[in-house]
Amino acid sequence: MADRVLGVGLVGVGWVAAQHLQAFKGNSRTRIVALCGRNEGRARQKLAAAGVRVLEARFTTRYRDLLTAPDIDIISIATPNHLHASQAVAAARAGKHLLLEKPTGLNHDELKQIRQAVTRSGVRSIVSFELHYNPYLRFAKWLREEGWLGRLVFARFQYLSRVTDWYSGWSWVRTNKSGRSHLLAAGCHAVDALRWCTGLEVMDVSAFHTKVTRGYQWPTTIVVNMTMDSGRNTAPVLAQLTSSTDLQLPYTFGVEMMGDRASLRDDLILWNETPVDLAALRAACPFDNVAFEEVKTQTGASAIRIKTAMPGSADVAHHPFQGEIDELVDCIFEDRETHLNVHDAELTMRVCIAADRSAARHGRSVRV
Ligand SMILES: NC(=O)c1ccc[n+]([C@@H]2O[C@H](COP(=O)([O-])OP(=O)(O)OC[C@H]3O[C@@H](n4cnc5c(N)ncnc54)[C@H](OP(=O)(O)O)[C@@H]3O)[C@@H](O)[C@H]2O)c1
Repeated sequence: MADRVLGVGLVGVGWVAAQHLQAFKGNSRTRIVALCGRNEGRARQKLAAAGVRVLEARFTTRYRDLLTAPDIDIISIATPNHLHASQAVAAARAGKHLLLEKPTGLNHDELKQIRQAVTRSGVRSIVSFELHYNPYLRFAKWLREEGWLGRLVFARFQYLSRVTDWYSGWSWVRTNKSGRSHLLAAGCHAVDALRWCTGLEVMDVSAFHTKVTRGYQWPTTIVVNMTMDSGRNTAPVLAQLTSSTDLQLPYTFGVEMMGDRASLRDDLILWNETPVDLAALRAACPFDNVAFEEVKTQTGASAIRIKTAMPGSADVAHHPFQGEIDELVDCIFEDRETHLNVHDAELTMRVCIAADRSAARHGRSVRV
């Protein structure tokens, strides 16, 4: 097994698919053997436009061909959202490992089907919440875990990305059938990051939504208040999340975690009473690609600026898919679970579904 090369088949040759393929090409233990789409010319043209060469891969219009191919070990699912669940279930039943795009399932029934199929077949899965490999988010998680913020009191995450007809998936993403909701189509990245960075699970949600941008069948901004479980006999941590396509500003992935010792607010570490010791932070930080600078805020308060790659771009070409695909491949060879499997992603999806349900009931609290 150790010197085997894993065959990859991909379904849904579009914007994000090109980045999956680029990352598989960047892993020496995988080989792209087949692509599945509705039209070969169109698919190959899209890949050429994205600068990704996979001329050696055969093409099929029948997904079944990926499922039955003996030279395919991994199926990468990059189709519109309403196709994910049935394709993931079929891939798992066929014994193929999975790279599954978000959202995994659009409702509880789909989530259950994916979970059962993956559990029964024992295949490995990874879900494309690739910001787990972004240097800033890795640092944010570490900072909170290592106690630099103290006990967490409040968290606020934001996914603000203006998506209109420039987007290649505009025909499907704006529909109830496929895009479904802003949280399921996009803001699930922020829900996932909230769970991952805080290390806490959401208990209750109360949400409101509104529809501003034309062309969408679903509400285009949602604001969610949440309680997060911080353990027995401890008051819940409060959190808030905004997911919107309506706002006139560049793509913004907002990260704020406020503890009883210090606060992280995007690229700033802030405090009131006890300053964060910069020398000690520099010495403790395990990441080569994170640096710090002592700064003053506009009101003259001391702060620490974090200098690293921020999650600041909507362009998939800037997203760290390599880390995600390398983890999946390592886990297949080492026969262990990925940390971002369909079971973990299901918890994120459940928060999104509960928030959408709460918003549909005008903010009534929903237990996740
Ligand atoms: N993780 C991330 O950061 C990230 C970023 C962007 C997108 N995504 C996810 O990736 C998936 C694909 O998004 P994308 O941006 O790549 O969209 P896209 O550019 O529209 O690509 C999807 C491809 O799926 C194929 N397809 C198959 N059945 C289709 C149908 N019924 N309607 C429309 N297209 C169909 C199309 O290729 P053919 O016409 O050749 O069949 C299309 O090019 C979505 O689930 C999205 O949520 C994730």
